[in-house]
Amino acid sequence: MPNETRVFHSDQANQKFLSNKTISVIGYGNQGRAQALNLRDNGAHVIIGNIKDEYHERAKQDGFIVHDLAEAVSIGDYVILLIPDEVLPEVFEGQIQPNLKNGAVLSFASGYTIAFNLIQVPPTMDVILVAPRMIGVGVRERFLSKEGFYCFVGVHQNSSGKAWEHMLAITDGIGGLIKPSIEVTFKQEAILDLFNEQAFGPAFGQVLLSSISVLTEKGIPPEAILVEMYISEEMSYTYQQMARTGLVKQTLFHSHTSQYGAMSRGIRFRNLNLKSRMEKIYDEIESGSFAQEWQQPRSRLLFKIIRFFAMRQFINTLEKKVHAALGLEPAAVLDGEDEHHLSALLDNPDLKAEIDSFRDFYEY
Ligand code: NAI
Repeated sequence: MPNETRVFHSDQANQKFLSNKTISVIGYGNQGRAQALNLRDNGAHVIIGNIKDEYHERAKQDGFIVHDLAEAVSIGDYVILLIPDEVLPEVFEGQIQPNLKNGAVLSFASGYTIAFNLIQVPPTMDVILVAPRMIGVGVRERFLSKEGFYCFVGVHQNSSGKAWEHMLAITDGIGGLIKPSIEVTFKQEAILDLFNEQAFGPAFGQVLLSSISVLTEKGIPPEAILVEMYISEEMSYTYQQMARTGLVKQTLFHSHTSQYGAMSRGIRFRNLNLKSRMEKIYDEIESGSFAQEWQQPRSRLLFKIIRFFAMRQFINTLEKKVHAALGLEPAAVLDGEDEHHLSALLDNPDLKAEIDSFRDFYEY
């Protein structure tokens, strides 16, 4: 097994790189808010670039000076791009690239747009990756608690010869070196992220849904099933133990009956043919074909339709019943879709084959 991975620690970072510099954080959403606040608490001079929306107001309320995107980019020595990956290519071309200061360092929190050639950066710039493995709220909370969070980091272009130092200073500034950070390429970061979302997540989801289906059909009360499967949060605790102790070794915290049952029956699930499906998903990601597909207006339409079916599949009704029985008030989520518009989409003849297959899959 190759063992050349570089891992960075806080003593390798030099915060002097950030002194007397302006850091322009572009976008004040999940990551933008957390990273901007952490950098400011660490003594950096941070300004925000944001369009006129509710995030703009939030940044002002938090005491930041907020500029429009072009202006914020034009004064930044470091420009940290923290807007959604799917809008970044257009925004980059129109408002970011033309306004970048000579010698500015461009920082990404995801490798996606660079890895799949959706953005062309000027060759004279330093381009760095500082990608927390943590949602924005966690980036802030774990900075304040000094617990830290992992980051994947890298350099795509090192035109100044100092890009690694810049990357370490920014990573340290957001609190990303309290725990070690791991070097990856932009492409590796993007692949890992997408693979986790497209191969691991859905496969795991199917395991849960199949279990729920077998157990409800056998007459076990749904309240008990969902508590057993995830509502109790016992599973999150097991995940924590995996992180701390090891994937297999954490089973030692369970009873002997549990260990014997899991290990002796585990072998029956070996031939699920998961690997070949996962390899196909990997290939689609790696070749850039997934990224190209997602850029198409057709995929954006299809996305709305798939979500329409997914949100109406049986598990949602079951959860509603279970939540009511247990007196739980699940956190509100908005899907932001207009029902009327969606119903019209369902009749779109150009998407008929896909609509039929998703309707089938989600038992609509
Ligand atoms: P977000 O969805 O929270 O972004 C909202 C921000 O984007 C707001 O400031 C909004 O004004 C701005 N925005 C939205 N549409 C815009 C447009 N058309 N033009 C200009 N500004 C626009 O984004 P999030 O989730 O913080 O992601 C930012 C970056 O961080 C992405 O590259 C993502 O892959 C990466 N990342 C996100 C994580 C997360 O916790 N969500 C975790 C690690 C990395």
